[in-house]
Formats: sequence, structure tokens, C-alpha cells
Amino acid sequence: MQRTLVLLKPDCIQRRLIGEIIGRFEAKGLNIVAMKMLHVSPALAQEHYAEHVAKPFYPALEEFITSSPIVAMAIDGLEVIRVVREMLGATSGLKAAPGTIRGDFSSSRQMNLVHASDSEESAVRELKLYFAESELCPYAPTLIGSFKASDE
Ligand code: CMP
Repeated sequence: MQRTLVLLKPDCIQRRLIGEIIGRFEAKGLNIVAMKMLHVSPALAQEHYAEHVAKPFYPALEEFITSSPIVAMAIDGLEVIRVVREMLGATSGLKAAPGTIRGDFSSSRQMNLVHASDSEESAVRELKLYFAESELCPYAPTLIGSFKASDE
């Protein structure tokens, strides 16, 4: 079992795609174990995107991610870090394959609708930025037998 951080970015909220995109994670059988709407501050943006802060596109990225609220989620599942990244598709909506979230809904590199952690290390770091341990609500999914075999 793994846990990942997923952010529905300002473009997702502005375009009224929250339900559509959460629906994909639910349909896949993943467990949403925490969710909240918040405004990302410049300080949080700099911490979250620490590896990009020095890059030329960072000022525009910070302006975008702080421009209106986001929805942050913690999602549990088998191999969920890779599975969610594959559901998102390539970073640029122009390159993302049809059938992926970005491939179906985005035509932009910056306004790519959703962020998801790219490794176990990033997931641990990023989850702590958005959720206190007390805000996580893991639960035993009662329909699990309809989503996977007991030895998977
Ligand atoms: P995300 O998966 O949240 O991780 C970093 C974000 O920076 C990325 O999605 C894009 O929104 C943005 N990004 C990455 N590369 C570029 C780029 N070359 N120009 C503008 N924005 C970018």
C-alpha cells in the first residue's frame, strides 16, 4: 500500500472539473483518505515546488498556483504513486495521451489541472505540507473484494 498527494489546481476549480476528476480516482478504486480546499500561499508554493524555484517558469507557476483555491487530497492504493501519475499523463496537456486526465482536459504545460507526487520520497514530504496526521482518515474499503483479488 502507498499514499500519494494529489492537488486539483486553480484551473481545475475554475473550470468546474473537481467532480469529474475526483470521479476518475473513485472509479479506479483508489481510497481518498483526506480532502480539503485551501489557498496556497507564496511560502507554501515555494516549499512545495522547491526544486523548481530557480527555474525560469517558476514566477508564473507561483502566480498560477496561488491565484485561486486548490483541492488537496491524500489517496491510498496499491502502487498508487505510479498509478495516479499514469492517470494524469505527461506534464504538458499537449503531449499527454488521450484517455489521461491531462490528455482529455488540458492543452497547456502550466495549466495541467492536477499535481501528483512523483516518488515515495516526494509523497512523504508533500503530504506533510498539506495534511496533519490527525486530518488523515484511512478506512477499510468494504467493496475491496470487487476491486482486487485477496492476494493482490
Ligand atoms: P506539476 O506536476 O505540478 O509540477 C511542476 C509544475 O510546473 C508542473 O506540474 C507544471 O504546472 C509546471 N511546469 C513544468 N514545466 C513547466 C514549464 N516548462 N513551463 C511552465 N510550467 C511548467
